Amino acid sequence: MFTAIDHVGIAVADLEAAVEHHRRVLGLEPAHREVVESQGVEEVLFAVGDAYVQLLGALGPDTPVGRFLERRGPGLHHVAYRVEDLAGALERLREGGVPLIDEEPRPGSRGTRIAFVHPRGTGGVLVELVEAPSGGADGAS
Ligand code: CO
Repeated sequence: MFTAIDHVGIAVADLEAAVEHHRRVLGLEPAHREVVESQGVEEVLFAVGDAYVQLLGALGPDTPVGRFLERRGPGLHHVAYRVEDLAGALERLREGGVPLIDEEPRPGSRGTRIAFVHPRGTGGVLVELVEAPSGGADGAS
C-alpha cells in the first residue's frame, strides 16, 4: 500500500534560519517552496535521494503547526508515505480500525492529494499519505 517514504516533515520556529542552516551546514538546496493556506503552513522541500525533507513554518500560532511548536517545540512533525491509491489506502486503514484525521483525501502542495492518519494508529507518529498528481510527478505536501 505504501510505495516509498515521500517526505519527513520537521516543524521549525524560524523558517528562514532553518532553510539557511540546511543549505550551509547540511549542503541541501531547496527544491520547492509553497504556502499552503489550508494547512496554515509555509513549507520548503529539500530533495534527499527520492524523498524530501520538508521544513514546516507556521503561518500563525493558531494553526496545527503553530500549536505543535507551542506544545512540543521544533522537531519531527510527521512522516509521509507515498501511495498510488489514496482513497483505497484510507479505506483499508479504516477497515483495520486505524483512526483517521482526514476521512477523505484533500489537496496538498504541488498538486498532490493527501490525508493524515492519527498518531494513535501509527505508534505515536503523525502519518501523512501522499498521492502524486496523475501524470506521475513525485509529490510532496
Ligand atoms: Co507533509
